[in-house]
Amino acid sequence: MGTKKSVSVLGLGRMGSALACALVKKGYDVTVWNRSADKPTPAGTTRVRTTEEAFEADVVVTCLTSYAVQQPLLSKNIRTLVNLTSGTPEEARATARWASDNGVEYVDGVIMAVPQQIGTPGARIFFSGNEEHHVLDAFGEPVHVGADAGLAALYDLGLLGVMWSTFAGYLQALALTGAEGVTPEQFTPMVADWLRELAGMLPEMGEETRHRSYETEVSALDINVAGLRMLTEANREQGLDTALPQALHDLYRRAQEQGHGTHSIASVIEVIR
Ligand SMILES: NC(=O)c1ccc[n+]([C@@H]2O[C@H](COP(=O)([O-])OP(=O)(O)OC[C@H]3O[C@@H](n4cnc5c(N)ncnc54)[C@H](OP(=O)(O)O)[C@@H]3O)[C@@H](O)[C@H]2O)c1
Repeated sequence: MGTKKSVSVLGLGRMGSALACALVKKGYDVTVWNRSADKPTPAGTTRVRTTEEAFEADVVVTCLTSYAVQQPLLSKNIRTLVNLTSGTPEEARATARWASDNGVEYVDGVIMAVPQQIGTPGARIFFSGNEEHHVLDAFGEPVHVGADAGLAALYDLGLLGVMWSTFAGYLQALALTGAEGVTPEQFTPMVADWLRELAGMLPEMGEETRHRSYETEVSALDINVAGLRMLTEANREQGLDTALPQALHDLYRRAQEQGHGTHSIASVIEVIR
């Protein structure tokens, strides 16, 4: 086996530290840089004080809070940039253009895992643009999602949007049922079953949105708007925050007002679009 590439990691937060450790485990020569001195140096890595020293490596992996934080740190002295900082598709594309203008080879990736999963096969790393993934396989399973550099960020935010709205719905339901003495242990298994059932409905819903055809024999929007009114009221009766059920009610209601009352829930996308 030839000599492994040298890799620098910029950012020793929760995720950056996990990435550095995974690279060490795979036998890379790993250099790390972090703005603040207080973060511990991962075992087996070499800490440098300046980003310029970090840029001497073959590959530079960035994992910082945001693109706003990252952009001023970048330099055309980087040879290959593997960007794992989360951002919007437009931020990713702008960084890809910057890299191309400055002769920097660029990989845009997003991490669909938590730090504890890094280095295990379950950690999926979506990447887009350049098909060469360089060191990404040290972190888990690299999945190329397309030639446009913005696509990894697009998939990331799409999936996180589903996660955030699902978690918020679950927490609202825990608060509502908990106000009447139902414990999370009693309620959560029902939620898990329910989510599995709902997941089975998604492919058909997706097709409805693609064809913009919302005829239904199952459940009309009218009845769901009435249900959302009840849900909002039940939360109010318990003195709970009603921002989430009220927002859902208002969104579905707008679709109803646009003439989708007898259509399926999928018709709500017409308002969102
Ligand atoms: N944690 C997760 O589960 C997870 C999962 C998927 C993706 N990600 C992504 O991974 C990235 C890092 O997340 P994290 O969880 O590691 O965050 P974190 O623990 O809060 O670490 C943030 C890192 O950014 C650095 N930073 C912040 N502001 C800076 C500035 N102005 N200049 C230079 N460095 C700055 C911090 O340095 P200091 O130590 O100096 O503050 C630290 O190294 C984010 O884009 C996040 O969306 C995280």
